[in-house]
Amino acid sequence: MPSTTPKTRSTPGSDDTNAPRPVERIVLTGFMGSGKSTVGRSLAQRLGWRFIDLDSLIEQRDGRTVSRIFAESGEAAFRTMETEALISSLQEPHLVVALGGGALETAANRHALAAASQTCTVLLTASFDTLYDRCRQQIVAAAESPLPVRPLLGDRDAAAARLARRDANYRQTANLVLDTSAQKPEESLNALLGLLRSIL
Ligand code: S3P
Repeated sequence: MPSTTPKTRSTPGSDDTNAPRPVERIVLTGFMGSGKSTVGRSLAQRLGWRFIDLDSLIEQRDGRTVSRIFAESGEAAFRTMETEALISSLQEPHLVVALGGGALETAANRHALAAASQTCTVLLTASFDTLYDRCRQQIVAAAESPLPVRPLLGDRDAAAARLARRDANYRQTANLVLDTSAQKPEESLNALLGLLRSIL
């Protein structure tokens, strides 16, 4: 069972993070478009650790895409699958996990992360305009898909309101925060490695 060692947030870039050392799992959180999957995959490669994209794990287990799960079974069913996927992932050592952007809306997920031993949760942020534009570019790239790639993105105002609602949960859960607004993925990876240096 994971220990319940309390974790507190640190100032980004400082060496005094209270994330337990050595860290064995790094969990990336943040809104849609924050780069969790792209940066997480590169981080895992760089560390020689396993990478799990929680949405992909859910899709593998269920046999449907996330958008089809939303369309056919609804958000509540997806959130249940998300919690099961997260809790089973947190058992593995040497792991980078990219959460879906809404995972921290579920209290059980926040509690599982707070209780997970040797686990550092990193919030990737960016300005709302940057996040929304990145998501829009991905929508254009996937234009042939009959279902929205991100069922909960919505229009600009809806997405902004969703981000504002989620912000406190993101920040309260994260041990570290990295602003990726002006960064390409490779730059975010290097900045993240710098932040993690003292706890790896
Ligand atoms: C969601 C974000 C998506 C995916 C699902 C719900 C959300 O993940 O989990 O569409 O509620 O913000 P990404 O953040 O990887 O797009």
